[in-house]
Amino acid sequence: MRTPIIAGNWKMFKGADEAVDFVKELAPALESYTGVERVVAPTFLAVKGVADALKSTGIKVAAQNAHWEDSGAFTSQVAAGMLVGLVEYVIIGHSECREYLQETDEMVNKKAKSLLAHGLKPIIAVGESLEQNEAGQTESFVGGQVRAALEGITPAQMADVVIAYEPIWAIGTGKSASAELANAIIGDTIRQTLRDLYGDEVADQTRIQYGGSVKPENMLEYMSQPDIDGALVGGASLKVDAFTDLVRLAAQAKGV
Ligand code: PGA
Repeated sequence: MRTPIIAGNWKMFKGADEAVDFVKELAPALESYTGVERVVAPTFLAVKGVADALKSTGIKVAAQNAHWEDSGAFTSQVAAGMLVGLVEYVIIGHSECREYLQETDEMVNKKAKSLLAHGLKPIIAVGESLEQNEAGQTESFVGGQVRAALEGITPAQMADVVIAYEPIWAIGTGKSASAELANAIIGDTIRQTLRDLYGDEVADQTRIQYGGSVKPENMLEYMSQPDIDGALVGGASLKVDAFTDLVRLAAQAKGV
């Protein structure tokens, strides 16, 4: 069985102190849901404080990005190796990074390889734009993003890879993809691409999240879908009550 994984992507919200205060409240609320992997992704600035505050809670920390080089003259960047010991996961390929930071498929691939080489687990975000969706290009575009991101990654390394399907038109817009549609892209496109690349065992073990305007009101629908293994959540992860509801509903839907 694939362990459900709910990750809160805090984007550029919550400064260092606020993030620590938040997780001190969140950790006890999430404590009992041990069947769900619970992850928070604060800004780089808050990673250390949050990691310290969550030690021995079972709640894991993700970074929101990492550079693929180990060190160098890359102003503003943080290397994968610098995150070792602080985070378990790193989100890469988020559509906001692809759009505003010009992150390409090739960069996502290099980042994924660097993270895996350092023993970190990439959460690789993929997803189509509204124009691509309306032009019927979702399957080919998303399938292409998955193939490009995973170029050169071995079947054994896939045990540490999580993929997040986030249609760009559904992020922060309140317009979520229907649960059936999300399940179809995740199952028939993304998991099928993994099947083509790596075979059934890897395809069946890899966790694939949905993301885009996930909230307590629609969580049960998403989590009841067989191919959706969790959620990457922005807005609704910023409040303790909503985050707790998301984790509770995931546990309920998946029977864990
Ligand atoms: P949202 O963001 O839940 O606010 O739509 C999701 C994401 O960007 O990961």
